Amino acid sequence: MSNSTIQTLGIVGTGAMGRGIAQIAAQAGLTVNLFDTNAQAVAAARQYLQDTFTKLAEKGKMSAADGEAALARVKACAALEDLAACDMVLEAIVERLEVKRDLVAKLEAVVREDAVIASNTSSLSITAIAVGAKKPGRVVGYHFFNPVPLMKVVEVVDGISGDPAVGDRLMELSRRMGHTPVRCKDMPGFIVNHAGRGMNIEGLKVAQEGVAEFVDIDNIMREQAGFRMGPFELMDLTGLDVSHPVMESIYNQFYQEPRYRPSPITSLRSVGGLLGRKTGAGFYAYPNGQKQVPAAAPVPAARPASVWVSRANERGHAMTVKLLTALGVTVEAGNQPPADALIVVTPLGLDATTAALEEGLDATRVVAIDTLMPFEATKRRTLMTTPATSAAARDAAHGLFASDGVPVTVIRDSAGFVAQRVISCIVNIASDIAQQRIATPTDIDLAVHLGLGYPKGPLALGDTIGADLILEVLRNLNRLTGDMRYRPSPWLWRRAGLGLSLLTEEA
Ligand code: NAI
Repeated sequence: MSNSTIQTLGIVGTGAMGRGIAQIAAQAGLTVNLFDTNAQAVAAARQYLQDTFTKLAEKGKMSAADGEAALARVKACAALEDLAACDMVLEAIVERLEVKRDLVAKLEAVVREDAVIASNTSSLSITAIAVGAKKPGRVVGYHFFNPVPLMKVVEVVDGISGDPAVGDRLMELSRRMGHTPVRCKDMPGFIVNHAGRGMNIEGLKVAQEGVAEFVDIDNIMREQAGFRMGPFELMDLTGLDVSHPVMESIYNQFYQEPRYRPSPITSLRSVGGLLGRKTGAGFYAYPNGQKQVPAAAPVPAARPASVWVSRANERGHAMTVKLLTALGVTVEAGNQPPADALIVVTPLGLDATTAALEEGLDATRVVAIDTLMPFEATKRRTLMTTPATSAAARDAAHGLFASDGVPVTVIRDSAGFVAQRVISCIVNIASDIAQQRIATPTDIDLAVHLGLGYPKGPLALGDTIGADLILEVLRNLNRLTGDMRYRPSPWLWRRAGLGLSLLTEEA
């Protein structure tokens, strides 16, 4: 197999993805040959590229001459045979295994012996696509994200019969095109679509348990946890016609691994046509295309006379006492809560009820606050009540914790707060991707940060919060619910136990 630089790229399938990849390749100086069984799609793609380069030149992002030169490098082909001279052909056709296999066979009859054949498949196995190829070693996964010019990460996927040298050539090509390549094994969802399970699946589980409304979960994930979007906003954007089948497919490809178990919420809403923005209604309503957000409940004016904070979690106790002192309320110092004081507990992975029972506290006065992340780092606070908490205690806690203007969400009792559950699942799944050696920890973080727009990679996020805290949340969740989805990945418990970064690989 040749190691020479890829200069001439063939693209088969010139839809949304094919034309995006054509754009970055032509801009990087490659000659690009476009082919599609629908000749109009080729003409449309070339027209799209012409319009794009003109717009980029108008915006001063490239010179008019560079735009013309890039366009001149893009050639429309009328037959597959016109791709004979390509160093590499990338297919971005319909996502069907037999159609892709058939195309690989046809390409092998056309291209040079040393030409690379790559697939932009998002959900099929690259190993499966290569079955039947005369030279399966040159068939490689090259998974871009939509829109290609803006999503600057690409997964280079090695099938089990793939030649690693071919993947190496794609790593180099990606950098030349201004993209960040990440390398991964051929496993369901590769890196990004695998790591992305945590947010949606756990968000749905929280909603299904009746703990909080969709909008509450989104607000918490955005403002408390620091993500750009919450799970329900994200699913509305993608559309359940896309996200629900992906959830089912990854779950089944991993043989019903509980971590990826989808929710009947999305199957039901898919059937009911509440797909998201594209149908004008999803988890939110979109009258006139604008997202309608239900008004937030008013902040109660009540405040407690004094507050007693549980010492069961020393870190949470210290953080909460500091905050309460800043809020100007009397904090009771004794070992037991005096009568009438509001009782605040700071559990990790426990529900407020279990915290109250384990400490022998009066549940009618118990309210829990989420201390997973430092209060300074968050723009929203989450409180949790027990089923016995009085309305007066709940309102006094809400009024107090919102008294400096920071918004507060009150959720129903749940083993683990919303942010604790969703973040721990995200970190745990990323840890298990590392444990399975699907990709290096560095590539996992890069892929997720760039591909999903998370504020940082999930392993770095776990390090920032503290792998020990994430582990405690998961262990408690696992213990209380008996649900195997919360069992910690060995990658996580070993590194947390040794006090190592989650990005640490063995020597
Ligand atoms: P698309 O529907 O926009 O374009 C597909 C194009 O392929 C069409 O122009 C169609 O005429 C052509 N085509 C279909 N069968 C063909 C064949 N046998 N030979 C030649 N051309 C054929 O699809 P899109 O969204 O661009 O997806 C293409 C591939 O990229 C799929 O494998 C998809 O899973 C993958 N992908 C899609 C992403 C997305 O967000 N749309 C993201 C990442 C990967």
